[in-house]
Amino acid sequence: MSEIGNSAAEALAFVGATPPAQGATMRGVPFEKRDVVRLGFIGVGGRGQGQLHEMLAVEGARVTAVSDIRDAHAQQARERVEKAGQPAPAVEADWRRLCERADVDLVYICTPWDAHVPQALWAMECGKHAAVEVPAATTLTDCWRLVDTSERTRRHCVMLENCCYEYAEMLVLNMIRAGLFGTITHGEAAYIHELRDTLLADASEGLWRREPHTNRNGNLYPTHGLGPVARYMDIHRGDRFTRLVAMSCRQASLQEYRDRRLPADNPKRAETYTCGDMNSALIQTAQGRTILLQHDVVTPRPYSRLNLVAGTKGTFCDYPPRIFLDGQGAHDWKPLAEFKEQYEHPIWKEQGELARKLGGHGGMDFIMNYRLIQLFRQGLPPDSDVYEAAAWSAPGPLSDISVAWDNLPLPFPDFTRGHWQA
Ligand SMILES: NC(=O)c1ccc[n+]([C@@H]2O[C@H](COP(=O)([O-])OP(=O)(O)OC[C@H]3O[C@@H](n4cnc5c(N)ncnc54)[C@H](O)[C@@H]3O)[C@@H](O)[C@H]2O)c1
Repeated sequence: MSEIGNSAAEALAFVGATPPAQGATMRGVPFEKRDVVRLGFIGVGGRGQGQLHEMLAVEGARVTAVSDIRDAHAQQARERVEKAGQPAPAVEADWRRLCERADVDLVYICTPWDAHVPQALWAMECGKHAAVEVPAATTLTDCWRLVDTSERTRRHCVMLENCCYEYAEMLVLNMIRAGLFGTITHGEAAYIHELRDTLLADASEGLWRREPHTNRNGNLYPTHGLGPVARYMDIHRGDRFTRLVAMSCRQASLQEYRDRRLPADNPKRAETYTCGDMNSALIQTAQGRTILLQHDVVTPRPYSRLNLVAGTKGTFCDYPPRIFLDGQGAHDWKPLAEFKEQYEHPIWKEQGELARKLGGHGGMDFIMNYRLIQLFRQGLPPDSDVYEAAAWSAPGPLSDISVAWDNLPLPFPDFTRGHWQA
């Protein structure tokens, strides 16, 4: 990777450089109010079909076009839209044409990681807002490209970080806002999800998600854990990430699993995996907070995003969700359920039943889509914009660079260009 540089000094200079702005900030810029939001979906494989299912239940959302390099997937999406009672969407073989259509307001991108940036950029160049799956970008250059293009075109680029809308995360956010945890000092975030079979499969993510394990060594998927913790800490609303340092352990699990499962003549047996099984990063913020951020998709262990937030009056810790408040019996956590009555988030009170019935990740997928479309319809700014898309994705490339240069501490780019105060 060229961003890693030929020396630690070169890498530091690269990370520390802020390109000149090409337009004013997009912070707080409202969507243009409209009753019906017309969506064009690009990439309707596993995730795209799921998101389409959720979106078709959202009041005021209309899917007018779909595109996928596999026509069978696009046709399946078309049928899904028609079954939901909407007019048949246009099927565009070329995603560029979808972005150019006059009947699309928001381009909704669920393609593999490498396609996110070119598609989001073209959508914005065509005057459309972009909503893009996670991570929005995998290089710092691309993070800046998204920011620059959003600012220049005055179009939003929203990253679809669904975990921010999970039941527990929203309830805890409510408790933080009510002051129950005091001054927030520390958080822990992760993507710990054993995906060895998915990575080695001959379909869906197996076709593209293993490749980064052969040419990177860092945190490949930082946003699910980091997004919610960033919200707990009011990142870009009075605080920002200022520094990151990362370390990887050796790689072993994916290779050993592959060698046990696949015959000697399978071409995957010739692959060399470079990505350490566990990557741990520490992020510091301008307000002196710290975040532990981890990534491990190959070790046999149960799923966890850690999802911990600590403050001067208490701590929340997930998996299972539990709370300790100052003055509580010395060793006992309280289950989150005890706080439901008073602190359940209003959006979950109102939409939770439908969200759970639709089922996407326990309901958070619907809540995310519902919220995005309602903000658009009301002419309000999105909950998160291009600055979060960039800052929550950036620990991917930053961890690669830190690991490559012996755990070099790196300055964290200020993608907001100074607009991170409340
Ligand atoms: N937020 C979440 O909970 C969550 C869950 C799963 C996946 N994802 C993300 O969703 C994205 C897609 O993952 P997936 O599991 O659906 O993968 P997938 O391989 O099942 O589907 C990708 C789809 O995109 C199509 N495609 C590939 N390249 C394309 C291109 N250049 N233009 C148009 N279509 C193209 C493929 O034909 C396929 O239909 C990834 O970014 C992934 O990280 C997010």
